Amino acid sequence: MRRPGNAMFNANKLKLGIFSPNCSGGMAVTTVPERWDASWDHNLALAKIADKAGIEFLLPIARWIGYGGSTNFQGHVLETITWATALLASTQRLSVFATAHTAFTHPIVAAKQFATMDQVGHGRFGLNVVCGWNKPEYDMFGLPLPSEHAARYAFGQEWFDIVNKIWQSDAPFDWDGAFFKLKHVYGAPKPVGGTLPPVMNAGSSAEGRDFAARNADFLFTVLVDPEQGRKDVESIKGDAKARYSRDIDVFTTSYVVCRPTAKEAQEYHEHYANTYADWPAVDRLMELQGLHAKSFPPEAFKLFRNRFAAGHGVYPLVGDPDQVADELAKISNIGFAGTTITFVNYVDELPYFAAEVLPRLEAKGLRQKAAPLS
Ligand SMILES: Cc1cc2nc3c(=O)[nH]c(=O)nc-3n(C[C@H](O)[C@H](O)[C@H](O)COP(=O)(O)O)c2cc1C
Repeated sequence: MRRPGNAMFNANKLKLGIFSPNCSGGMAVTTVPERWDASWDHNLALAKIADKAGIEFLLPIARWIGYGGSTNFQGHVLETITWATALLASTQRLSVFATAHTAFTHPIVAAKQFATMDQVGHGRFGLNVVCGWNKPEYDMFGLPLPSEHAARYAFGQEWFDIVNKIWQSDAPFDWDGAFFKLKHVYGAPKPVGGTLPPVMNAGSSAEGRDFAARNADFLFTVLVDPEQGRKDVESIKGDAKARYSRDIDVFTTSYVVCRPTAKEAQEYHEHYANTYADWPAVDRLMELQGLHAKSFPPEAFKLFRNRFAAGHGVYPLVGDPDQVADELAKISNIGFAGTTITFVNYVDELPYFAAEVLPRLEAKGLRQKAAPLS
């Protein structure tokens, strides 16, 4: 459902979101002293810069255990529902997502939390549904992480169906499912304006992609190679249409090192993501994400290790403003509706990106200049 007034549905051909600012280190697994300190004050300052610049959304990561190393990468994490609520109350235009692990929040509590957030943000709330992958976190909660993806997403589907039913039911209902048996379920308030908030999911397995095709407005997927990316976008959109008669947009995720010259950008990239990478944390992250597979050729593995240090393995946008804008245009041409962006230090670096790269995207017809905020 296309919801009027939510920036995720504005007219910009290439939408941009800030990813992971609620987590220490953001997406850069580095020891440099300017690495991201995910304090509330920094998050608030960042949200205001992003809102003014016309960035469409903020997307947090729900992380419960850090990755160790000397920085304990993503060890200090602002909880995403409370974080997003406070940011919705402090901003005017952008959409703020909360990220919910289906297994860690009861759907009745979740439905009310999200509806409350939607009230606070006057329809600017967005939901990222995570059905689970990080075993140590499940162990910490004392919950089993099913080894089969089908079981994880079956649970996620039932959870999501309950949340949706609460949002759309005026009368109490009973629920007799495989995972939940509930009596006289009811929730008010509902999301604002009789519409549903935008929903995203980032499954990469067949089951995860099917979940997104069935339920989400946006699927987020990692881009490694442009040709594969184009095929992914086509097949995801095609599956949503064929299986569920739904339209879905596909986003990717990227990190930015933008400097006045390409040389400066590359030198800084080398500095923070190689010389001063937090390698033990990089290796733990890759191990948990299942990338220590023998099927990886050594060159690709080396590339990925460096990409994980630089930006959690996502697509690099490294160069001067022209090069970064050209790469973003390439992402758009592949068929992506947008991408998330991250920086080593978001507050220090987003203003330069906004001043230099956004006007170039406007000149390419990919975005419109943001109107001033009141
Ligand atoms: C943009 C993006 C955001 C994600 N956010 C989170 C998150 O906040 N917490 C989390 O545990 N997993 C997160 N994930 C992981 C996905 O939800 C998903 O589990 C992962 O991509 C693997 O897909 P699969 O579950 O189909 O194997 C994210 C992934 C991406 C690409």
